[in-house]
Amino acid sequence: MNKTIFITGGAGFIGSHVVREFVNKYPDYHIVNVDALTYAGNLENLRDVERKSNYSFVKQDIRDAAGVSALFEKHQPDGVIHLAAESHVDRSIVAPTDFVLTNVLGTVNLLNAARETWKDKPEGKRFHHVSTDEVYGTLGETGLFTEDTPYDPHSPYSASKASSDHFVRAYQDTYDLPVVITNCSNNYGPNHFPEKLIPLCILNVLNEKPLPIYGDGKYTRDWLFVVDHARAIDLVFHQGKNGESYNIGGFNEWQNIDLVKELCKQMDEKLGRASGTAEKLITYVKDRPGHDLRYAIDATKINTELGYTPSVTFEEGLSHTIDWFLNNRQWLENVASGDYQHYYEEQYGE
Ligand code: NAD
Ligand code: TYD
Repeated sequence: MNKTIFITGGAGFIGSHVVREFVNKYPDYHIVNVDALTYAGNLENLRDVERKSNYSFVKQDIRDAAGVSALFEKHQPDGVIHLAAESHVDRSIVAPTDFVLTNVLGTVNLLNAARETWKDKPEGKRFHHVSTDEVYGTLGETGLFTEDTPYDPHSPYSASKASSDHFVRAYQDTYDLPVVITNCSNNYGPNHFPEKLIPLCILNVLNEKPLPIYGDGKYTRDWLFVVDHARAIDLVFHQGKNGESYNIGGFNEWQNIDLVKELCKQMDEKLGRASGTAEKLITYVKDRPGHDLRYAIDATKINTELGYTPSVTFEEGLSHTIDWFLNNRQWLENVASGDYQHYYEEQYGE
């Protein structure tokens, strides 16, 4: 093994795809998945890689500074790809402090441990902080977020991610910690936890339950297939420049209502139901407080500097995602029932 890489939040939705990408592509790296296994962490996401010799899992809460330091001391990682976070906007509205503790304090604990571990030899080391386009706030009807767009977060989630981004930059400027930041648009794909719009709608179409649309449904998001996010992280981790931020997106904007209608159309076809069946489940509900109108990423920098383009169109990615959920009903049932949380005990023991 020529490098040890920590991937925090590797049991989550995006993290599990990043772990898979790295474990399969870099047999010479030792990939250590560092995750507290909150409600969003699910080791079943990683069944296909968990027995590979270059993969290990460590249950560790990043809010615990001493535990994080001890882990760095033990493994002496060469790189950190930091995804562990509280990630759901609606939960942040209900319990904002949880977001400060994990997203801000947890990030600072990792930064402190990396700084201490790398202080004598920072060359070749890298702290890659995975962030969101939501830090830029909201767009009106036109325009795109570039890397120079001023931060203007509105939800407790985006405020906590913006704060963590600032700390990452501060550690570069103050302590010369080698860092990169990526700010990605909304992801979708296999293993997505069904609290977010797309997997929630897939689950509810299957169970013939209402599809809740906040407000008038005209809110716009820019969607990227999760595997394409993992590919972009690989590219920036290896080829990005220290101290830089890179926006990741696929120029793929959808109003929520149009997206849900496309999802309904595809699901009716795949389930052999009459056209228009799923759409009847669409139900307009009370709006989210402080709901950002529109997110849209200008991905020119990562495209021109690193040659990045997404590999699938939205229609292809959505079709693949629906197929995955239809073929993995047990995963969905385990998540819906909470059974997935026993997997760690069965697999690793307490
Ligand atoms: P997720 O909620 O699916 O997974 C988060 C993971 O972090 C889980 O495995 C969870 O167990 C772990 N975790 C949470 N708190 C922890 C703690 N205190 N200590 C250790 N582990 C902890 O999130 P996701 O959607 O996969 O997002 C991953 C990262 O990507 C986040 O940093 C998020 O802000 C960012 N991001 C997400 C999106 C998106 O559309 N989902 C878009 C852009 C950026
Ligand atoms: P979400 O998947 O929660 O991601 P984010 O808030 O990080 O963008 O929501 C995507 C969009 O869908 C957002 O505009 C809120 C909206 N939404 C609904 O209309 N209904 C829902 O049940 C959910 C979860 C989200």
